[in-house]
Amino acid sequence: MTILALETSCDETAIAILRGRCRSGPPVGRTRPVASSELLASEVASQIVEHAKYGGVVPEVASRNHLVHAPRLLERAAHDAKIDISDVDAFAATSGPGLASSLMIGASIAKGLAIGFGKPYLAINHLEGHLLSPFFGDGEVKPNVSLIVSGGHTMSILVRELGNYEIIGRTVDDAAGEAFDKVAKMLGLGYPGGPEIEKRARGGDPKRFDLPRSMLDSENFSFSGLKTAVRYLLPKIVGRFCETPNDERRLTQTPYKLAEKDLTDLCASFQQAIVDVLVRKTIAAAQKHDVDLVTISGGVSCNQELRKQLRESCEREGLEFKTAEPWLCTDNAAMIAFAAMLKLENGFESKVAEEIDPNFALA
Ligand code: KG4
Ligand code: ZN
Repeated sequence: MTILALETSCDETAIAILRGRCRSGPPVGRTRPVASSELLASEVASQIVEHAKYGGVVPEVASRNHLVHAPRLLERAAHDAKIDISDVDAFAATSGPGLASSLMIGASIAKGLAIGFGKPYLAINHLEGHLLSPFFGDGEVKPNVSLIVSGGHTMSILVRELGNYEIIGRTVDDAAGEAFDKVAKMLGLGYPGGPEIEKRARGGDPKRFDLPRSMLDSENFSFSGLKTAVRYLLPKIVGRFCETPNDERRLTQTPYKLAEKDLTDLCASFQQAIVDVLVRKTIAAAQKHDVDLVTISGGVSCNQELRKQLRESCEREGLEFKTAEPWLCTDNAAMIAFAAMLKLENGFESKVAEEIDPNFALA
């Protein structure tokens, strides 16, 4: 079975072609044994440069770019996969959550192809794509506590089996990736901020600056206090003190130019504050819900310190730890194709009349 999937939920246009190879075995819960898979093509066109001059993603620009990139990527993916589009058995697209005008482009292309070739269409939840990505390639979805950490989302989920999810906690303000991006901006570092901060944090002292770990007793997350703490710390580090309310404006005059050692230590301290919260809450959730497996996905899960510290904590607590390779953690269409394949094998199919849903709930 060959699946072609499109991912256009935000500012990345992505197309992948995945081929499943059937594998026999006993059913896992109510989930049928799934095929192992072979990725035939995976194309991602980033629009970072196009949006950089506006200081954030502009939906209109994103959807116009998807229209430009998608046909080119489609052709390249079919060429890389050495297949004809007519050989594809099902077409899938991210149906939400995301930007409406962007989601519409990928979904419309997938629906058009499904109708044109008389094949099934699958509307996939972007978050389910992330959540299942740690299983990419093996396909057996075991019960787990899953942490999704990306630019738009931070949530922990109890995964009982494929399609049976319960949200344990989510951010009440900024997502973890959003905090990385905003703090990087204050420091005059590039976008996306996560990899920039991680790079500078290497060799830094994670204990030098005392930054808050918010809502530790809750199952939800909060990162906006941490971001604000960094904002208030910056003028102190560079020796510009705020004396009166009128000076408040100066606090927001970013970016701040820090000395090399200060920048390294601040990046290390900030990163450690996020890692501490994510590791602690994820382990607590796994213990509370009595699962043996912890998974992590989404762009922030590329962070090597987070992967290392979560892995070590899991080992200490006797939990198995699973994550995808970094290229599968940031937005891509391979994870959407993989989710579609698992769902199709379990009898799921969408109607082509189904609308995209910018607020598509996972559970
Ligand atoms: O999953 P993703 O590609 O897109 C969304 O669905 O949001 O995640 C992008 C986010 C950005 O906020 C980016 O700064 C963050 O993931 N990110 C990282 C790292 N690589 C990407 N954060 C921390 N460390 C990294 N190495
Ligand atoms: Zn994402």
